[in-house]
Amino acid sequence: AAPMVPTMSEVQLRAPGRVNLIGEHTDYMDLPVLPMAIQRGITIRGSVVDEPGLVASSSAAQGVPVVLEPEAPLPDGWGRYLLGALRQLGSAARGRGAELYVDGDLPDTGGLSSSSALTTGVLKALVLLWDLDLDDDEIVRRAIAAERIVGVESGGMDQTVIMFATAGTALRIDWDPPLRTVVSIPEGFSFVIGYSGAAAPKGGSARHEYNERVVSCRAAALLLESVTGIDPGTPPVLRPFVDVDLDATPLPEHATAAEVAGRLDVDPDTLIRLTAGRFDPNRRLRVERAAVHVIEEARRVDAAQEALAAGDLAALGRLFDASHDSLRSYGVSTPGLDAVTAAARAAGAAGARLTGAGFGGWAVALCRPDLTDDVVSAMASAGSGLAFEVTPSAGIR
Ligand code: GLA
Repeated sequence: AAPMVPTMSEVQLRAPGRVNLIGEHTDYMDLPVLPMAIQRGITIRGSVVDEPGLVASSSAAQGVPVVLEPEAPLPDGWGRYLLGALRQLGSAARGRGAELYVDGDLPDTGGLSSSSALTTGVLKALVLLWDLDLDDDEIVRRAIAAERIVGVESGGMDQTVIMFATAGTALRIDWDPPLRTVVSIPEGFSFVIGYSGAAAPKGGSARHEYNERVVSCRAAALLLESVTGIDPGTPPVLRPFVDVDLDATPLPEHATAAEVAGRLDVDPDTLIRLTAGRFDPNRRLRVERAAVHVIEEARRVDAAQEALAAGDLAALGRLFDASHDSLRSYGVSTPGLDAVTAAARAAGAAGARLTGAGFGGWAVALCRPDLTDDVVSAMASAGSGLAFEVTPSAGIR
């Protein structure tokens, strides 16, 4: 039943950024992740207006407004996410008007989920302003779909933690069946993030690289199905193969989507299946590496949860390092990220890894609180000068 909340003519909310602690490049294969929301975020102020459509401005865009109708073609820049959000409201948005102002302290360099904070926050703001009957789970589903229209086949980690995080804790997210588990961060665990110096916006240059990883995993899942008979689902995911012994089920080191499809006698689109945009079926995929990274990383999420429960800083640090090594072989790290993580370790961090999609962006380190300042300085000097401590924070409020 629709909640009996009067339409709000004005709304103000805060959508945080996120740092993923572990479980990187696993969500799009329906395998678990363990992120937390951080104290940096974006603020959205909105009001209902009579004129239909969305007028949005932001401090970052120097106040130049983006004006959007649900039927408008996809614009450039941040307007893509706004239009994605608006389109997800479908006919509920028709004839309605809102003005939004976006501000905040979350770097939009890629890696801290500024695009998801924007998309999820704007959807939530519009639902409140227009009194739409959509609960937070449904808003998250639509925010995930909205972001895919920019052409990156991302998973649902960012939008989920941005909506549902609680202060002081991390959030383990499982996908099938869907499950959210609050994970306490013990006293004496401090997290520091440092910027690699290279921007990696999800909707930009990193997009094709990211999609290549998704398609490689889909190819691996279909090949594993052909050997084991286990159903990988549609689109195919690796989750059903998490207990398969990959040493006993060899996958090709390299193959293209066209080759894998030919071998299995299916249409290449069975494994490409992007929501938007094109993918070259002759692009070379590292199929075996994809399966090894994703499956081992999923096991590290379980181990990390145990390390947190046991208050074992050294164990969690080793998992961070192992995750980063695996992400390097998966081809998503950069020399900048390797340098920032190495500097954190040299300054006494228990472990460090890239966080988010990679290809630039940010790294996260784990350390004892008395070493926080040293780790911040080390990461800042090895990278771009940008590093700070992050604290587990609440989701959208
Ligand atoms: C990006 C995506 C997420 C997730 C990470 C990698 O942040 O938006 O869904 O896949 O990369 O873990």
